[in-house]
Formats: sequence, C-alpha cells, structure tokens
Amino acid sequence: MSKARADFVVVANRLPVDLERFEDGTERWKHSPGGLVTALEPFLRAREGAWVGWPGVADVDVDPFSDGDLHLHPVHLSSTDIRQYYEGFANATLWPLYHDVVAPPVFDRSWWENYRRVNQRFAEAAAEVSAEGATVWVQDYQLQLVPAMLRELRPDLRIGFFLHIPFPPVELFMQLPWRTEIVRGLLGADLVGFHRPGGAQNFLWLARRLAGFEPSRAQVGVRSRPGVVRVGDRTVRVGAFPISIASAELDQLARTKEVQQRAKAIRSELGNPRRIMLGVDRLDYTKGIDVRLNAIHELLADGQITVEDVAMIQVATPSRERVEHYKQMREEIEREVGRINGEFGRVGHPAVHYLHTSVDRKDLAAFYCAADVMVVTPVRDGMNLVAKEYVACRNDLGGSLVLSEFAGAAAELTSAFLVNPHNLDGVKDSLLAALDLDEAEGRRRMRALRRQVLTHDVDRWARSFLEALGTSLVA
Ligand code: ADP
Ligand code: F6P
Repeated sequence: MSKARADFVVVANRLPVDLERFEDGTERWKHSPGGLVTALEPFLRAREGAWVGWPGVADVDVDPFSDGDLHLHPVHLSSTDIRQYYEGFANATLWPLYHDVVAPPVFDRSWWENYRRVNQRFAEAAAEVSAEGATVWVQDYQLQLVPAMLRELRPDLRIGFFLHIPFPPVELFMQLPWRTEIVRGLLGADLVGFHRPGGAQNFLWLARRLAGFEPSRAQVGVRSRPGVVRVGDRTVRVGAFPISIASAELDQLARTKEVQQRAKAIRSELGNPRRIMLGVDRLDYTKGIDVRLNAIHELLADGQITVEDVAMIQVATPSRERVEHYKQMREEIEREVGRINGEFGRVGHPAVHYLHTSVDRKDLAAFYCAADVMVVTPVRDGMNLVAKEYVACRNDLGGSLVLSEFAGAAAELTSAFLVNPHNLDGVKDSLLAALDLDEAEGRRRMRALRRQVLTHDVDRWARSFLEALGTSLVA
C-alpha cells in the first residue's frame, strides 16, 4: 500500500468545505452546513485523517487536496446524481421516511438505481484512499449501502457506520421498497451506531425480519451493551452513541470579549427589549419553525407578549433549495413572518427578525449569548446540536432552553422546558414560563444543562464509538 493512504478515513456525502463559484469565474471554499460537519471536523483534524466526500458542486472534478492536517478526497457527482441520489432518494425518500413521514416520501425506482451507483462510487473512493487495515467511518443516510460495498472491495478494513438522523419505527421503515438492501448494506459494517437505543433496537429487529440473522435480545444501552448480530463468520455490533459538540471550545469562544461585545450590540440594535427569543436552524420542514411562529402569533394576538417587550430572531440557513417540500416550506415560513410583522410590527419593532442566511461561528455565539430564550421545536430530529451549542455558550448561567421532546437531545437535556411541538398551547405556556423565569430557577436549570453538555462532548462521542469499533485510534 502506498504511504499516501490513510489509517483513518471518514466517508460522508459532503466534504467539510463546499466549493462556491461566482459569476466572475472566481471560486472559494466555505464551511459546509449541518451538524455532521460541526461534530466530525474537529475530531478528524486532530488525527490527520482523510475525508472522502462531495465538494458541493455538480459536474466538477477536483483533485485531492489538504486543508491543514485534513486530507480531502472529492467524489464527483453529476447533475443527474444530484437530482436522483441527493435531492431524490436521500432527501425526498429517506429523509421524510426516517423523520416519521412528516412529509410523504417519494418512492422512485430510477432514484434508487442512482443511489446504488453513487454509493458504489463512494465505496470505491474509500477503498482507494484507505491503508491496509485502516479504520473507515461511514456517515449518514446518504451512504447506507457503502459498508457492504466497501467490505466486498476491502475485507481487511475495519468499518464503522453512524446514522446522524433518527432511525424510524419498523412500521415506517417497512414501507421502503428497498428495505432489505438497506439493512444488508448496513450489516457490512463492524459497528452500526445510532443516537438512541430505540433506533438500535429497531435495526436489530429488522436484521432478523428482513435479513434472517439472529440478533442478541438484551436491551441496548447508551454507549454500552451494544446489540450483536452474527453475519456468517463476522460479528456486527449495533449500539447507541448520542452525538455532541466541541463544548469546551465553544464555551471559550463565548467568553471572549469580542463575542460578548457583539452580543451587547445585538441587544442594543434591537432596542434593548426585556427579552430576546432565538431560533437557529437549517431551513428544514422537520425543524418546526412554523410551530414557534404560530405560537408567537397567538401570544401576540392574545396580548400575552408585545413587540416592544419581546423580540424574536430566526436565523435560517438555506438548505436543499431545489427539493419541492423545501421550496414550499420556505414560502410558507416567509409568508407567516410577513403576516406576523404586518399585523403586530411597529416602526423600529418588527415582531420577528428573519435572517435567511448562514452566520459565522463568532456571530452565532453572540446570538446565543444575547438570547434569553432559545426555541428549538423540531417535530423530529436525530439529535439537534443547536440546543447543545446554546447551553455551551451560557457560562453566565443565563438564558432558558425550550426544547422539543422529539429531538434526540431531549433525552439528555432534561432540565430544559420540554415541549410537544404538536401541542400549541403547551408550546405557548412553556415560552411564557421561559420568558418569565425566576433568575435562581433559571440558573439551576442552566447549571444542570451545562454539566451534561460539557462532560459529554464530541470527543467523548467519537471515542466511545471508536472504542466499541475496537480501533487503536483511541489515544
Ligand atoms: P442538522 O444536522 O439537521 O442541520 P443540527 O442542529 O444538529 O441540525 O446541526 C446544525 C448545525 O448547523 C449546528 O452546528 C448549527 O450551529 C449550524 N447552523 C444551523 N443554522 C445555522 C445558521 N443560520 N448559521 C450558521 N450555522 C448554522
Ligand atoms: O445531519 C443531517 C444532515 O443531513 C447531514 O448529513 C448533512 O451534512 C447536513 O444535515 C446538511 O444537509 P445537506 O448536506 O443536505 O445540506
């Protein structure tokens, strides 16, 4: 094997940086969106690993390159691949199916064929960059066939797979026409990881039902007691590993003078309202942005809050903009923001400050520090790192978190105001309670949340996964 091959390889749909092309022909690399990159990039950098992924633009060939200690290996995707594999099968079939069918999934045979072909291409790229006996960590729902395809090409590798989104109840998974192929694809790994024990348990059931293997019967624990499936002469472990963030780094960033000053500036630019509420999300229909807008609408209509007293900021990163459900949702959200502002806004006091953009880490930390109430209301979310980021930024023990029970993070962040996003009255009550929270009670809750987030960081997540995978990379 050549020296240039890596001992530790991450394979994900996207590289951690996206190529951006401007009309004048210039290009630049920018940080990729989403929780997967936020979680994995710091860990991989520290280990000089290789990352195999798509550079974010269709029909371009980019040579492998290094970004500091990270070795990036771009995978070519054509416009057809983007339409069928990425926008189609990954984001209009699997994404809604795995998020409790909150939108109807589309089952299209040509998308599936393309998903298979693209997964094969990722497997071949991973096989090429991996050293003899390397550890390869495959990420997320876009690449569920890669573990088995890669094992076929390179039986010497140790292969892990982690799913960053929820794994659905078996009744929903069973709708998928290609359900057996997906289960067999995942069983190519030595370790299959989910956020929650429930996902692992569902997968074990399907391994028996669809692939005919006999799984262990004991309950799967968090970071411990993985389930086991014997697949021929191999043992596949199946476990729960709740992902997290680089908490200490974010905590340090939030303490800097620059971030604190920016936070003050945000407050004063809003006219120093008594309370600031904040939402930060990819613009995705699973995030429940409509839920919080409806709650705010009713609270304003009932006179329970006023625009002079409470300001709401919603920062929404553009996401998957050519997928039909995303287009529709963006229109609905922006119509609702317009409606609320038209009805309740005053000169200098819009009810909702809506920013359709991505912001840099310092600005994000400043928004978190400025916000009295962080509103996280997904109808379904694998984890939700935004909730953890908010907590990591609040070393002053200020601020309250309103968090959906349907986010994976709710199992860990039990001192938040937990809400059922389908119960609008409950969401309104919790928002009011968080807005008027007694200071001592707020500090008590935030202290408990911080204990959880600061001790369970992304490094611990990655270590616990790699330990269970049995790799020597855990230093
Ligand atoms: P998902 O993986 O579904 O996008 P998460 O909440 O787990 O959801 O992760 C989202 C990540 O993207 C977080 O690290 C968050 O800080 C980042 N993010 C979300 N919205 C924005 C935004 N508008 N600007 C900058 N970063 C954002
Ligand atoms: O965590 C879920 C996820 O789909 C990641 O796989 C992905 O990197 C992120 O959200 C952003 O989505 P996309 O790559 O489709 O923009």
